[in-house]
Amino acid sequence: MKISTTVQEIVDLQTDCLVLGVLEGEKKPEGALSQIDQKLEGQISSLLAEGDFLGKNKETLTLYTFGKLPSKRIMLVGLGKEPTFESVRGAAATAIRIGLNDKVDQLVFCLESYLIDTTQAQEMAHALGEGAALGGYRFKGYAWEEREYHQVDSVVIATSLSDQEAEVSRGAQIAEAFSAGTNLARDLVNTPGNKMTPAQIADAAVAVAQRYGMEYEVLEREDMEKLGMGGLLGVAQGSAQPPKLIAIKYKGAQNWDDVLGFVGKGISFDTGGISLKPGLKMEEMIGDMGGAAAVIGALEALGRLKPSVNVLAVIPSAENMPSGTALKPGDIITTMSGRTVEVLNTDAEGRLVLADGVSYAKKLGADYIVDVATLTGAVLVALGTCTTGVVTNDDDFVDEVLHAAADAGELVWQLPSFKPYKEQIKSRVADLKNTGGRNAGSITGGLFIGAFAEETPWVHLDIAGTSWADKQEELSPQGGTGAMTRTLAVLAMGRSANRTEE
Ligand code: BES
Ligand code: MN
Ligand code: ZN
Repeated sequence: MKISTTVQEIVDLQTDCLVLGVLEGEKKPEGALSQIDQKLEGQISSLLAEGDFLGKNKETLTLYTFGKLPSKRIMLVGLGKEPTFESVRGAAATAIRIGLNDKVDQLVFCLESYLIDTTQAQEMAHALGEGAALGGYRFKGYAWEEREYHQVDSVVIATSLSDQEAEVSRGAQIAEAFSAGTNLARDLVNTPGNKMTPAQIADAAVAVAQRYGMEYEVLEREDMEKLGMGGLLGVAQGSAQPPKLIAIKYKGAQNWDDVLGFVGKGISFDTGGISLKPGLKMEEMIGDMGGAAAVIGALEALGRLKPSVNVLAVIPSAENMPSGTALKPGDIITTMSGRTVEVLNTDAEGRLVLADGVSYAKKLGADYIVDVATLTGAVLVALGTCTTGVVTNDDDFVDEVLHAAADAGELVWQLPSFKPYKEQIKSRVADLKNTGGRNAGSITGGLFIGAFAEETPWVHLDIAGTSWADKQEELSPQGGTGAMTRTLAVLAMGRSANRTEE
């Protein structure tokens, strides 16, 4: 979605729908709102005075101007008593959903009506644009009959403060990049397994790399054999779909150093393999490439914003199927790192492909690794659907990632990586076993991947709960959420700001 800015007096703006924020408890219109009120002959004053609009969080009211203003409609959105970036994002999402219903083509947000503190113009423009673009997302689907599918194609952040133009347009630019990345990730997750095979995941990743001139390679089965990627090959061996490993280098700095590695789980569909999953809701396993989607989405955002930082994206991708050639419980495989793994459960396949993904990221020079994966059902039990689980081997690096998530407005929570958990995944007959049993399943699943990161600072993000919404959420419809796309992007952007070029 296009997110642009304009410097103009609010009463002169001509649009389908002008959206103004109203604080809870405001008894008479202030600032921009009072200018509008005058033109509307006191309509807003009387609504506020009579308590017909209270300004409660996400309360909305649409007024038609019937020629009293150049804009066709004025939409009031409640901000609650103390608006935050979070609540403004939510208010913008609410506004756009109403706009979609009313078949509006454009929404204009009047920045001043949301701004408490003028030093926050960039962040507030960012919050408004992002909330609108994320809240307005729809997955197109494949119905033959034409379905109602209206899109708001343009969101404008309007300000009358010309000295803030640069901040406001930077905020809009970041919002546009982050939401484009997130919505791309959502599309990839929502696309079913027969239309988003490993080859098609590779195509989607390569399309982003080519769009922004990033270096890339796609490893085929033979390449994986040469590298000894027994984890990825093992998972793929039961499927008719050949595995792919996609590696993309975003070179934003002069030298290939301080490389931030993003490794995303790209299981195009997870049946569980021979350790077959139950049928109920198995269709949701089209989303088992949510980690890959977040990584691809983050690259889309970085391609647009071009920060001076180096990012390496690695996506090991396969389909996990049961068949006569599939891995079996008890099989022992040898990973690229040389470590052997006893496969006790073929449904614990994510960690097998990620083991090789992490080793390959190290081989290509990753100095820091974040892996993103729909790894365990256990993380849903522990944290539910709103919070991503975090496991790490490095306190400083995890701090940086936790801050990036907070900045991005995504909820994450760190789980412990105490030594006894590592005992749970030691095998009697191999270096590791691929499940540590039911207890602490998200921690042992994470630590399995951490074994392959070795000494490299590493953070694991388990998005099995967050990457798929069972029902509509504040910023996302049902289906793929694009979880962690923005956190990865913020993490990379933050390093760019800190990097002192030689
Ligand atoms: N892809 C699943 C995890 C998952 C569960 C994602 C629910 C999204 C929603 C993963 O491959 C898996 O099957 N994990 C197993 C691991 C177990 C066998 C150790 C699980 O969580 O049951
Ligand atoms: Mn599985
Ligand atoms: Zn899986």
